[in-house]
Amino acid sequence: MSVSVLSSTRALGSISGILQVASLLCLVLLLLLKAAQLYLRRKWLLKALQQFPCPPSHWLLGHQQEFQNDQELQQLQKRVEKFPCACPRWLWGCEATFLVYDPDYMKIILGRSDPKVHDDCRFLAPWIGYGLLLLNGQTWFQHRRMLTPAFHYDILKPYVGIMANSVRVMLDKWEELISQDSHLEIFEHVSLMTLDTIMKCAFSQQGSIQTNRNSQSYLQAIGDMKKLTFSRVRSFFYQNDIIYGLTPEGRRNRWACQLAHQHTDRVIELRKVHLQEEGEMEEVRRKRHLDFLDILLFARMEDGSCLSGKDIRAEVDTFMFGGHDTTASGISWILYSLAVHPEHQHRCRKEIQSLLGDGTSITWDQLDQMPYTTMCIKEALRFYPPIPVIRRELSKPVTFPDGRSLPRGIKLSLSFYGLHHNPKVWPNPEVFDPSRFAPGSDLHSHAFLPFSGGPRNCIGKNFAMMELKVAVALTLLRFELAVDPFRVPIPVSKIVLSSKNGIHLQLRKLL
Ligand code: HEM
Repeated sequence: MSVSVLSSTRALGSISGILQVASLLCLVLLLLLKAAQLYLRRKWLLKALQQFPCPPSHWLLGHQQEFQNDQELQQLQKRVEKFPCACPRWLWGCEATFLVYDPDYMKIILGRSDPKVHDDCRFLAPWIGYGLLLLNGQTWFQHRRMLTPAFHYDILKPYVGIMANSVRVMLDKWEELISQDSHLEIFEHVSLMTLDTIMKCAFSQQGSIQTNRNSQSYLQAIGDMKKLTFSRVRSFFYQNDIIYGLTPEGRRNRWACQLAHQHTDRVIELRKVHLQEEGEMEEVRRKRHLDFLDILLFARMEDGSCLSGKDIRAEVDTFMFGGHDTTASGISWILYSLAVHPEHQHRCRKEIQSLLGDGTSITWDQLDQMPYTTMCIKEALRFYPPIPVIRRELSKPVTFPDGRSLPRGIKLSLSFYGLHHNPKVWPNPEVFDPSRFAPGSDLHSHAFLPFSGGPRNCIGKNFAMMELKVAVALTLLRFELAVDPFRVPIPVSKIVLSSKNGIHLQLRKLL
């Protein structure tokens, strides 16, 4: 080997050595900078939250032990009893959320226009896009104004029949299943039924997804996205978009999103073609009832412009997301509550029987004529709020009625579960007592918030209450419900309130 080759190899070796040392130094510097940033964030949070006591927390792991063994709701209950109005919860050493469970605090926050937490939106957006649920500011306001007519009574009325049909398909299935075994896990069935309903109401899906398997891949995609999104929210390692995208879970999520979007796009395209043939809105209305998709396609902004294709898909996906697991959770927990309290179940059934007879038909007007059943539904929504918590990020400082305050930038968790189980608001909160909702009862305007409150309350509230009433009424006419003493549900907060071990009931057919 010649001398010149040897010396150039040595030179190259020393350059690469220098490069290695330099990159190591850069890395150490970056880590030090990050550590300093985290330290400063922790110091800032400690100062910002100092007026609000909370249980002792680990400097690195925060209150992580509260999330273990699905003890979150029990731990929350202890906090509500011990720390008035609100308290901080440390997610880890340098990240905290401010838990709120007092009606006056809720009123102040829900009356403001603080945006949703950026990370929550980041995780959901690939699926549901920037529709009403994730939008903020002026664009949210415009969309809300434009979409409010989609939930007008005239639009909702014909949905009673669609809902009743979907419920009947589910009850027929139950009848068949209990001929072999009277025990049934209901959450899965109810979830499929509410998805069926919303697909019919949102875009007039033909046939029932509960019995035919044509939409199987779409259903699979929705199921996957629900599980994957939740697991991402909770995992420290899945927070970064690039890292998540490289993991098998991230790839599955992307694939499921694509599949669901293709489905929604196809439905929208087909409808556009139909509408071109059918003519203007009034003409279409004369021929058939309008569904949510028609309303979206006909919707106009103040300046006369219509929603873009991307916006329409986001709104359809948002309705699908917002409108099926929530109602499934509501219906399942209401039926469970009535199974636990046969005396209330009996009284509801009497009321429904005298109103509907054998239940062959059910109308919009009848839904307003079941006061006791409505009280029980509300009490179950108090006890088991389908959306146990929502989040906001303060865009400006806030001062609460007791004089304590928080600076801009603090993340808030508005805990409806905590509020609904707060003994200062609800005496004996662990007692199921429908009389709390008797006409004339004196409730704080922000004591009962299953559908949130203020300008960003649930736009689908009336639709949801209709569906809950139809499902409860028709189920009680057909079955007597009892609990399964060996499989008592364990409520867990998973975007919606579900049960760790399912919701098991024993059913006995009536008639
Ligand atoms: C029992 C059933 C339901 C419950 C408990 C429920 C609860 C809620 C809550 C708590 C919010 C506030 C979310 C937040 O501010 O972060 C919300 C918003 C929303 N819900 Fe519901 N919901 C239900 C059913 C529905 C249905 C059936 C639909 C649609 C068909 C729907 C569509 C929406 C939409 C689009 C929003 C966003 C509204 C906005 O920000 O302007 N929800 N819902």
